[in-house]
Amino acid sequence: MADLFAAYAPRDDHMESARPGPPDDLSIHTMTAADVDVVAAIRDERDGSGHSGHVVWARSAMARRARAPDDFEIIVARVADAAIGYACVWRIAPSETAPSNAVPDGLYLGGVVVRPPFRRLGIGRALTAWRMPWIFARSDAAYYFANSINRTSHDLHREFGFREIRRGIWAPGVPFTGGEGVLFRADRPED
Ligand SMILES: CC(C)(COP(=O)(O)OP(=O)(O)OC[C@H]1O[C@@H](n2cnc3c(N)ncnc32)[C@H](O)[C@@H]1OP(=O)(O)O)[C@@H](O)C(=O)NCCC(=O)NCCS
Repeated sequence: MADLFAAYAPRDDHMESARPGPPDDLSIHTMTAADVDVVAAIRDERDGSGHSGHVVWARSAMARRARAPDDFEIIVARVADAAIGYACVWRIAPSETAPSNAVPDGLYLGGVVVRPPFRRLGIGRALTAWRMPWIFARSDAAYYFANSINRTSHDLHREFGFREIRRGIWAPGVPFTGGEGVLFRADRPED
């Protein structure tokens, strides 16, 4: 099992010229039934909790999209025809009995994972760039939250206009182990 979060390694100014572009054969598409197994494998590689539980998760993700296509999307990144990452968008609508620090109702970027051998090639950025117009076609605001210790995630999202809104947030089913939850928001750009 790899670490849950990528080690934080900000790029120095002198490394700017070394920034690689995404692979020429990178493609991004919405997840299909044929991707269930490999998305489960990517999730298991990350957290080691077992393939079968992640298959259930991936199938339920497909079902959720079929039920509410404007509230949920899941996409897969491929390089040379192999799936090497995935990412989601979902609506979170906390119930009236949720804690007072619950995240607001809205469309959230979530669940972006790139397989370790393919990281730092611009694939997380490409998965995020795909999802921003999807959200802005449906909402004035895009949200995401991350563990405070996942500074890699904060840096990835910053270039998309996200700004920190609140710390110590509650989000359904997310434990924020080792840190606290941080909520970010980006507004739809003016035309
Ligand atoms: C976060 C994650 C998806 C990034 O994917 P990636 O394909 O490696 O990201 P990219 O190559 O597109 O990087 C885009 C920008 O994100 C930031 N970034 C990515 N990895 C970073 C790292 N290890 N340290 C610091 N910043 C990083 C940088 O600003 C980077 O731009 P740069 O390479 O030009 O400096 C990947 O590290 C991952 O799967 N992590 C584990 C799961 C996770 O934490 N998901 C986020 C939960 S909210």
